[in-house]
Amino acid sequence: MHTNSILTLDFGSQYTQLIARRVRELGVYCEILPFNTSIDEILRRRPAGLILSGGPSSVYADAAPKLPAGLLEQTNCPILGICYGLQALMHELGGKVFRAANREFGLARLKVENTNSLLFDGIPPESTVWMSHGDHVESLPGGFIATATTKQSLSAVEALSKRIFGVQFHPEVAHSEYGKQIFANFVQKICRAKDDWTPQNIINEQIESIREQAPTGNIVTGLSGGVDSTIAATLVGRAVGARQTCLFVNNGLLREGEFEETLIAYQELSLNVRGIDASDAFLNNLVNISDPEAKRKSIGRTFIEVFDHEAMSIGDVHYLVQGTLYPDVIESISVNGPSATIKSHHNVGGLPEGMKLKVIEPLRELFKDEVREIGRQLGVPESIINRHPFPGPGLAIRIIGEVTRARLKILRAANKIVEDEVRHANLNQHVWQAFAVLLPIQTVGVMGDARTYEQVIAVRAVTSLDGMTADWARLPQELLEAVASRIISEVRGINRVVYDITSKPPGTIEWE
Ligand code: XMP
Repeated sequence: MHTNSILTLDFGSQYTQLIARRVRELGVYCEILPFNTSIDEILRRRPAGLILSGGPSSVYADAAPKLPAGLLEQTNCPILGICYGLQALMHELGGKVFRAANREFGLARLKVENTNSLLFDGIPPESTVWMSHGDHVESLPGGFIATATTKQSLSAVEALSKRIFGVQFHPEVAHSEYGKQIFANFVQKICRAKDDWTPQNIINEQIESIREQAPTGNIVTGLSGGVDSTIAATLVGRAVGARQTCLFVNNGLLREGEFEETLIAYQELSLNVRGIDASDAFLNNLVNISDPEAKRKSIGRTFIEVFDHEAMSIGDVHYLVQGTLYPDVIESISVNGPSATIKSHHNVGGLPEGMKLKVIEPLRELFKDEVREIGRQLGVPESIINRHPFPGPGLAIRIIGEVTRARLKILRAANKIVEDEVRHANLNQHVWQAFAVLLPIQTVGVMGDARTYEQVIAVRAVTSLDGMTADWARLPQELLEAVASRIISEVRGINRVVYDITSKPPGTIEWE
C-alpha cells in the first residue's frame, strides 16, 4: 500500500484517469478509488492529499454521489475538488450550487482574482482552461474566497485555513494551458506528497513484491510478442530468474518472420522462454470455418489446450503471470461496474484448469506509458515497446472467409509490404495500426497483354488514442501508390489493392 501519496476519488468523470496521470508525471503516486470508498479505507492510506474528480451528476439529483461520510471531519490532508468534486464540496459545506439549464463546454478565459493563491502560483493573470459543466457554484460557504473566475462562472475557490481548494474547470485536460502547473502547486507545494514514483523505484518495488508473492515454486507466463506480456515477464525474470518459464506459442497466424524474430528478442532479454510451434494444430482446427466468431472461439480453444499442456509439463507450477494494466483494474472496481466497452474476446488465454494457479500481475498499478518507460529501463527493445497492437487471433481475422496456408502466404507477403512502407515513410508512430486484409473475391485486371482474374487486398491504416474509436489515416498518396504497386508486382495472386476509408464507429478497426 502506498502512503503519503495522492488519492483521487472518482465521481464518474471521463477524465479521472487523466488526473492520476498528471499527478504521476510529477513523480507522485496517485491511486483512484470509487467515490463511495469508506473513510477507513481512505485513512488507511494516510494520503498526503485528496482529489475529488468531476462527474456527470448534479448535486440535486436523487442519486447524486456524495462525499464519503466523515471525509471532511476525519481527514486532515488538503483537498482539491474538480468540477463536480468542487460542487459536491460546496453543497456539503453549505454553499449554493446553481442548477444551470445549459452546459458550458469548451475553452474559456480564466482570470486569477487572488494572486496570493498557492494553487495559482506562477500562473499568469489570464489563461485558457477547459470547461465541461452544467451546474456551477453560486455562493460560497463561510471561510471560502473566490480565487479565479471566467465570464460565465466562479471558477476557483479556496479556504486556506481548511486546506480545501476547488476548480470548476478541468486542469487535467491538455487544453487547460497551465493545468500541469496547478497540479504541481497542489501536489508539491500544498500537499508536499512523497515523490518516489520513478521508473527505477517502481522496478525495485515490483521485483521485491514478486519475490514476496512467489517465495517458492515455479511460475508460468504466456508471451504474445506484445508490450505488456513482455515487460511483465521481464520484471518477473529479474525477480525470480529461471523459476519463471515463459511460453510463446506460434499459432500459425503470426506475421512474416514474427515468431522467429520475437523469440530471439526474448532470448536476448535473458528470459527463460519456450517457443512452441503449434501452427498445425491451430490451422487444422480452422479448416472449413468462415465465421469470425467461430474462428476466434476455435483459436481460443486451441490456445488453451496448447498452453495447458505445456504448462503442465513444467512441474511444480504455482503461479501465472498476467499483464493486467491499471485502467483494467480501475474499470473492475468502478462503482458503475465494468464498462461495456471492454471486449471479452480480447482476453486471450486462460488459467490452466485444475492447476489452481495464483495470479501475479506486476503491471496492475501502471498506465501504458509508464509500462513503456519501465520497459526502456529494463532494456526491452524499441521494436517491442513501440509495437502496434496485433490481435490474438492474428491473421485469421484479416482473411475474410476460410483460413488456408495458401491465403496466409499471400496475406503475409502483402502485409509486410504495408508495414515496411509505412515504416520507411516514418509514419509508424503516427498510425495506431496499418495492415493488409485479404478479400475472398476475384476481380479482372490486365497485366502485360494478358487478362488476369485474381484476388483483392484491402489496406487498412487508422489513427487512434486507445483503439475504442479510430479515424482512417490520411496516408500520403505517394505512399499508397508505392504500397499498391509493390503488392501487385511482388505478391502472386493479387491484381487489385483498395484503401479502407471507414472510421470507427461505424466500422471496426479489424474487418472481422
Ligand atoms: P476492433 O476491430 O474491435 O479492434 O475495432 C480494436 C482493437 O482490438 C484489436 N482486436 C483484438 N485483439 N483479440 C485481440 O487480442 C481479438 O479478437 C481482437 N479483435 C480486435 C484490434 O487489432 C484493435 O487494436
